[in-house]
Amino acid sequence: MSSLEYYSMRKENGGYMTNKIPDDVIERVKQANDIVDVVGEFVHLKKRGKNYFGLCPFHDENTPSFSVAEDKQIYHCFGCNKGGNVLSFIMEMEGVSFYESLVFLAERGDIELPSIQQGKHAPRNEEHTKLLEAYDWLSKLYHHVLRYSKDGEEGLAYLKSRGLSEESIETFQLGYAPNKANFTATFLEKKGFHKQLLLKSGLLSEREGNDVTDPFRGRIIFPIRNHIGKVIAFGGRTISDGRPKYLNSAENPLFQKSQMLYNFDEARKHMRKTNEVVLCEGQMDAIAITEAGVPHVVATLGTALTEYQAQLLKRYVDTVIICYDGDEAGLEASYRASLLLQNSGCTIKVSQLAADMDPDSYIQTYGKSAFKAQLIDNSQSFVSFYMRYIKREYNVQSENDRVEYVKRIIQHIATLESSIEREHHLQDISKEYNLSMESLQTELLEHVNRIEQSQDKTSQTRYTSKGSAWTKKERLLPAYQNAERKLIAYMLHDPNIARKVENELEAQFNVDAHKIIVTYLYAFYEDEESPDISSFIERLPEDGLKHLVTELAMIPLVDIIDYEEIDDYIQTIYLESNDMKQLSDYEEQQKLAVQQNDYFKAAEIAQKIINIEKQLKKV
Ligand code: GTP
Ligand code: MN
Repeated sequence: MSSLEYYSMRKENGGYMTNKIPDDVIERVKQANDIVDVVGEFVHLKKRGKNYFGLCPFHDENTPSFSVAEDKQIYHCFGCNKGGNVLSFIMEMEGVSFYESLVFLAERGDIELPSIQQGKHAPRNEEHTKLLEAYDWLSKLYHHVLRYSKDGEEGLAYLKSRGLSEESIETFQLGYAPNKANFTATFLEKKGFHKQLLLKSGLLSEREGNDVTDPFRGRIIFPIRNHIGKVIAFGGRTISDGRPKYLNSAENPLFQKSQMLYNFDEARKHMRKTNEVVLCEGQMDAIAITEAGVPHVVATLGTALTEYQAQLLKRYVDTVIICYDGDEAGLEASYRASLLLQNSGCTIKVSQLAADMDPDSYIQTYGKSAFKAQLIDNSQSFVSFYMRYIKREYNVQSENDRVEYVKRIIQHIATLESSIEREHHLQDISKEYNLSMESLQTELLEHVNRIEQSQDKTSQTRYTSKGSAWTKKERLLPAYQNAERKLIAYMLHDPNIARKVENELEAQFNVDAHKIIVTYLYAFYEDEESPDISSFIERLPEDGLKHLVTELAMIPLVDIIDYEEIDDYIQTIYLESNDMKQLSDYEEQQKLAVQQNDYFKAAEIAQKIINIEKQLKKV
C-alpha cells in the first residue's frame, strides 16, 4: 500500500456521524479535567487560602488578579471580569468554539466523545479548519515518508548524521518532503483541497506555466504546533547548502511567529513542575536540549523574542534560562531578550556558551550531562551575564577602564532588591579585581540611596490601597447592591437559601442582571439537587452574565450560615424595590396632579418623594 492510500484510509474511518452532545458527556469531560490542572498549564498559579491566583491570561497585568476556585471549578479575573468554567477557559484562551474546546478537553482527559456531526458545533472558520486539516495530513505524510519510504532516505540520513535519535524523530514528528515537484500537490488535490487555499496559505507555490509545486521539497520538515498541539505551520531545513537554510510557512491568522514558541505545548507540562523554562533560538537546539533531558524548552523561530512571548512565559514560570548561540549576535540577542523578560517580571539566567557553539553543537561535542550540569544547572545570574556583556566595551587591563567598568556594574547591582544578592556580587567583583569590599560598599550605598530617594517621590503620589478587591468594590456600591451580590453568592452555594429567597422575594432584585441570574438559578435548582456553579453558568445565555456569576461566586463567604444576615439582605433588597416602586407611583400621581392643576396635592406628593429619596440615600 502506498503512503497516500494508507493515509486516506486512516482519515476516513475517523469521521463524525451523529448530532448532539449529551449533557452527561459534557459532564464527564469536565470531571476528567480539573480546572486547576488545566488553567495551571496556561497560567502559573499559586495557592493562597482556598483559591489559586495568577497573572490573568486575558489582559496585561503585573499583580495577580486572576483566581481559580477548585471547589467551584471556576475561574474569575477581578481585573477584566472574565470568568467561567474549564470549557469556557479553553474557548477564551485559544479562541475556539465550544465544540473544539470539548474535543481538546476530551482528548486531554482520555474521554471518548460519541460521533458528532459537525454542523452547528463546527469550528468558527471554514478556511482555518481546512488549513488545519491540510497541515495534519501533510505532517503525517512527511513523517511517514521520512521513516519508511525510499523518498525519505536522504532526509533520514541527514538527521542521523546530526545525531538525532529515533525517539526525537517520533516525538517531534519530524518529516521529509520528497524532492519531487508534484508529489505534495497531487496528494493534497486527491484529498479534495482547493488549489486556491493551498496557494494562499503557502503550502504550495506557483511555478511557471500555471503549475504548482511544494516549496518545502527536499527539506526536513519540523511541524510547528500551536499551544494546543495542532500543527499550524512548517519549518523546513535544507539538507544541502541550499538557501535559505530554514524556510518557514507564510504567516496567517493562525500562525504568527511573534506569538509562537516552538515546542510550547509539550514544554508547558514540564514548565509547571520546574517553574522554569529554557529559551533557545531554533528547532534543532530545542530538540537537542530535550534529548539532553531538559524537556521544558521552547524556541523562537528565527526572530527576536517579543514582548508577547515574554509575557506568555511569565504566566507559566518565574525563571527563564536563556540558552542562545555563543557568538556576538547570540550575546546581543540574549541581552535584549533578558530585558524584555525582566520587564515582564521573570528572573533571568543565562547559559554561557563558547563563541563558536550553539546548544546543539555543545551537546554533540561535550555530551548531554555536561550540557545539563554546565549550561542549565550552572547558568549565570543576570548580573554575571551583564558583567560579561558590557565587559566587551572596556579594556579592563587599563586602570581607568577598569574603574569605569566596575562603577557601571555596581550601578546595576544597586537595582537588585535582595541585599544577599548584592553582597554576593560585590564579593565576586572584589575578588576578581582585587578591590576592597569597603570601597565597593560605599559606592553601592550611594547608588542605593539615590534610587530610594527617587522611589519615595513616586510612592507619595501613588494611590495606596488597603483591603481586598472585595472590600474596595463593596465600598463603592450602594447597600442594596451589596446585599443582592452577597445573597446571590449564598444562593449559588446553597439551594436551601435559594429556595428561601424564591419564596420570600421571588425575582424582586433591583439590578436587572441579578434578576435574570436568580430566575435562571431557580430553574436550575428545579433540575439539580446540589449546587454546581460550573454547570450553572453553561445555562446562561450570554458571556456578560457568566462573568458576573463567576465574580459573585468568588465572594468569600463564611462556612456557617448566619440566617439573620440572610434575612437582612432580603429585607434591604425588598425595601429598595418597594421604595423604587413607590417612588415611580408617586411620580405618576404628581404628574397627574399637575395636569389637573391641583398644586396643593402636587406639593404634598413632592414632599413624599423627597422623603423616600432621603431614605434611599441612607442605605
Ligand atoms: P542548524 O544549522 O540546523 O543547526 O540550525 P541552527 O538553529 O543552529 O541555525 P541558526 O542558529 O542559524 O538559526 C536559528 C534559527 O533561526 C533556526 O532554527 C531557524 O528557526 C531560524 N533560521 C535560520 N536560518 C534561517 C533562514 O535562512 N530563514 C529563516 N526564515 N529562518 C532561519
Ligand atoms: Mn545549530
